[in-house]
Amino acid sequence: MSTYENILIGSKDGVVRITINRAEKLNALNRATLTELEAAILALDPEVRLLVITGAGDKAFVAGADISEMADLTAEQGASFARLGHEVLARLESLEVPVIAAVNGYALGGGCELALAADFIIASEKARFGQPEVSLGVTAGFGGTVRLSRRIGDARARQLLFTGEMIKADEAYRIGLANEVVAAGELMTRVDAIAAKIMENAPRAVSLSKRATRFGEESELEAACVFEQQVFGLCFATHDQKEGMRAFLDKRKPSWIGR
Ligand code: COA
Repeated sequence: MSTYENILIGSKDGVVRITINRAEKLNALNRATLTELEAAILALDPEVRLLVITGAGDKAFVAGADISEMADLTAEQGASFARLGHEVLARLESLEVPVIAAVNGYALGGGCELALAADFIIASEKARFGQPEVSLGVTAGFGGTVRLSRRIGDARARQLLFTGEMIKADEAYRIGLANEVVAAGELMTRVDAIAAKIMENAPRAVSLSKRATRFGEESELEAACVFEQQVFGLCFATHDQKEGMRAFLDKRKPSWIGR
């Protein structure tokens, strides 16, 4: 279905799965892969209800930005590479539909940052997370100093960013980086089950929940609460609110139209 070289795209019943597909390089993100990922996000069908992002093979989600491409960069080129990474991850993060990172192995550097741009992370017990950039003489460059702190708090993020150490899946779960840890062979089954559960709900209410939580993350409490009131009100202008509440009262399953 896809014409990309570094990613695979599959789609079933409104769920799109994007797989970073450079298993021989542990799915490291080079410019070509980032560019393809951006193109794939931009080309998503408006009917898509949910996106899953994962890595090819059984070893890595993404083992980082591509070190062989970065080794000889100038300061200007380094900043430009980081800008590309940020642009792509911002596009992923700002999708209206839920995005789940299915982390099947190493999620290091840009890989951890890619997973953090998803709404939440479901990890296999083989997953390993870390921001090892300082061991290479650089800082995190695709949002690690920002999104990691927001997800797990400044102090824990700093520990990972300063030590460069890898943590196992159960530790990632303990500190709130991964929502769940499942057996390696069960990862996609569990992610599909979560996706199916989300898709039982009114699509617009789900996407507005995402928008409100994102607004809330970036705003003062009062502004975020006002935003939620507006979003809640907006739901009452939809068919699906009428349908959802009527179905409850009629003791039947709702039938959503997505608006
Ligand atoms: N960039 C470019 N290539 C990478 C890569 C990266 N981030 N991570 C792995 N690779 C490549 C390796 O160079 C190797 O390629 P080769 O077979 O052509 O030599 C291949 O992927 C397999 O990796 P390898 O190191 O042999 O696997 P391993 O099981 O011994 O170790 C890791 C796995 C993840 C511990 C190790 O690959 C690693 O430390 N990677 C870099 C992680 C990192 O620092 N990421 C942040 C980058 S800013």
